[in-house]
Amino acid sequence: MPKAIGVFDSGVGGLTVVRELIRQLPNEDIVYLGDTARVPYGIKSKETIVRFSIENILFLLKQEVKLICVACNTVSSIALPVISSHFRVPIVGVISPGVREAAYATKNKRIGVIGTKATTNSRAYEREIEALDPQIKVISRACPLFVPFVEEGWLNQRAVLDVARVYLKPLKRAGVDTIILGCTHYPLLKAVIRKVMGNKTILIDSAKQAATEVKQILIHQGILESNHKPALSFYVSDGPAWFSGLAKRFLGHSIKNVTRVSLT
Ligand code: DGL
Repeated sequence: MPKAIGVFDSGVGGLTVVRELIRQLPNEDIVYLGDTARVPYGIKSKETIVRFSIENILFLLKQEVKLICVACNTVSSIALPVISSHFRVPIVGVISPGVREAAYATKNKRIGVIGTKATTNSRAYEREIEALDPQIKVISRACPLFVPFVEEGWLNQRAVLDVARVYLKPLKRAGVDTIILGCTHYPLLKAVIRKVMGNKTILIDSAKQAATEVKQILIHQGILESNHKPALSFYVSDGPAWFSGLAKRFLGHSIKNVTRVSLT
């Protein structure tokens, strides 16, 4: 019986990463955990985010996963640097893959980063970009209203465009040519972000790069499945019906079996 890839997020947004994993790794079993009882993480303290993250990882380890992909940018920027070395299973976050792609993509060495308040306050993106290329200037901006807009299905409305104009003003003024979409939900707002920033701005979708990194690790360790009918399992800490109702928007198709579990 092949082992699954474990994925977790604070809620439903991490399904954007699952979507990419399915696209790039079509033969892998995936176990997804959404901590829907305690979402959002983006406004919580470091101590709380670290504690929740450890509980999520322990749950996935009980499912005997072979690798853990942290789909949540908030967890990746705040908890991963503290906890990843304490586990033997490989743990992939979404920060480094996005940073590498953005540093490669930018021509004028000005990168914009958007994410939750916790993510932008952590300055994790700045640190990683600076380590890669100290000449790159980073302009970051928290966009907290984007998450509820996406969960309400407001992806193109006038109100979203108005809010995006305010949020993205400093990035526009700084002339960034590349923006890292540093939150699970933001890939769904690409059209609005493009409308504000112009079509030439390169939008880096962390989900794509993270899935590529997972694939590389599995190939490197010789544990990539190539001939297996994959199974997807979904667990949440609350509101399975709410979760499956929103899943289609993030995943591209609807899901049926969502199991509620206790993480504490
Ligand atoms: N999943 C979170 C992230 O990518 C967004 C939602 C939250 O604040 O928990 O940062």
